[in-house]
Amino acid sequence: MKLETIAIHAGYDGDPTSKAVAVPIYQTVGFEFDSAEHGAALFNLEVPGNIYTRIGNPTNTVLEKRVAALEGGVDALSVSAGMSAVYYAVATITEMGNNIVSTPQLYGATFTLLNLYIAKQGIGAKFAASDHPDDIEKLIDENTRAVFCESIGNPAGNVADIEGLARVAHRHHVPLIVDNTIATPILLRPIEYGADVVVHAMTKFMGGHGNSLGGMVVDSGKFPWRDYPDKFYMLNRPEPAYHGVVYTEHYGAAAYIARCRTVCQRNTGATLSPFNGFLLLQGVETLALRVERHVENGRKVAEFLRDHDRVDWVNYAGFSDNPLYPMAQRYLGSRRPSLLTFGVKGGFEAGRKCFNAFRLFKRMVNLGDAKSLSCHPASTTHRQLTPEEQLRVGVSPEMIRLSVGIEHIDDILADLSQALDKA
Ligand SMILES: Cc1ncc(COP(=O)(O)O)c(C=O)c1O
Repeated sequence: MKLETIAIHAGYDGDPTSKAVAVPIYQTVGFEFDSAEHGAALFNLEVPGNIYTRIGNPTNTVLEKRVAALEGGVDALSVSAGMSAVYYAVATITEMGNNIVSTPQLYGATFTLLNLYIAKQGIGAKFAASDHPDDIEKLIDENTRAVFCESIGNPAGNVADIEGLARVAHRHHVPLIVDNTIATPILLRPIEYGADVVVHAMTKFMGGHGNSLGGMVVDSGKFPWRDYPDKFYMLNRPEPAYHGVVYTEHYGAAAYIARCRTVCQRNTGATLSPFNGFLLLQGVETLALRVERHVENGRKVAEFLRDHDRVDWVNYAGFSDNPLYPMAQRYLGSRRPSLLTFGVKGGFEAGRKCFNAFRLFKRMVNLGDAKSLSCHPASTTHRQLTPEEQLRVGVSPEMIRLSVGIEHIDDILADLSQALDKA
């Protein structure tokens, strides 16, 4: 099936009990066992079934299967936020003394998670001088357990060379983890280019309506964990945290995502609420249509800003003179995300006035909503970073980030026009 169809149908054949056509919300903490023996068999992973929502829930299972199908993975795990997805993706295969190597331009909280939070757990993060695979390769050592990148960086819009990064990672026998939040599988499917794990903030375009936090970790099923038993011993030796299961033996290609669920999620509980799972499913059903309109509106806004005499610069990978253009062309074809940044002439002060004058564009720190949103990264999402770190991840003081929504383009441009008049 094509992506548009998968987004509506994958993972759900109808509810066997009620025959409900819409996916039911299983708003329950747990599931009854037929007997002590049945409960034991479930815990021993001898029979399939539901145990407790912290580990799995039928509403969320549909969402997991749907996103796994959209990304071309073997299985997925839904979690409570995009940040838990990034964290679990790393935590599943790292322990004290390991490190991960990342591209430098990342979402602010992801940068902080990797740079400061996991460091306290003894897991290092090394940020390359650029996105270039050669710069990544220079940092990989015998303790590296993964290479990390965002397929499209937030907010810089940098497009990763996923094929090149996967080649470098695989040469050193480690997986490539790609945050595909901004692109969504409609614009780009990282697994097709060699990514091993894909993560999502479902909160953004996937859900698309700004009503539910959620995250997803997708396992491609392709990384040969068994070939590196010492490096990835947690997948190849009996797991003490789950009564001795050997993930690669019991789960085969889905070993990674099984450990992610039964060790990371079971022990720390960043579980998606089934109600949020339901809302996110509604969003996913219209993903392809929404992304099409986002892309079209984003292009029109970028062109409008480029031609406006109060605008100093526009960073939009759709302009052929933009340094991001060749990589965007290679991975996105003619389409570009509707996330773009610009600077108003007059620097920080003029930018602040324009930002404060928005009427339709909501001033907030979300993106990927049906509504048009605006954000001033230096004072919000990237505030915790030093000015040097801000520049490194692609944030300048005057930068305004727009997430162009799916309203009528005339209304979007009218709002930008009146706000720029006030700058
Ligand atoms: C690229 C990217 N990854 C992860 C996240 C974190 O998502 P959440 O806010 O759902 O934790 C965000 C949030 O903006 C993001 O933009």
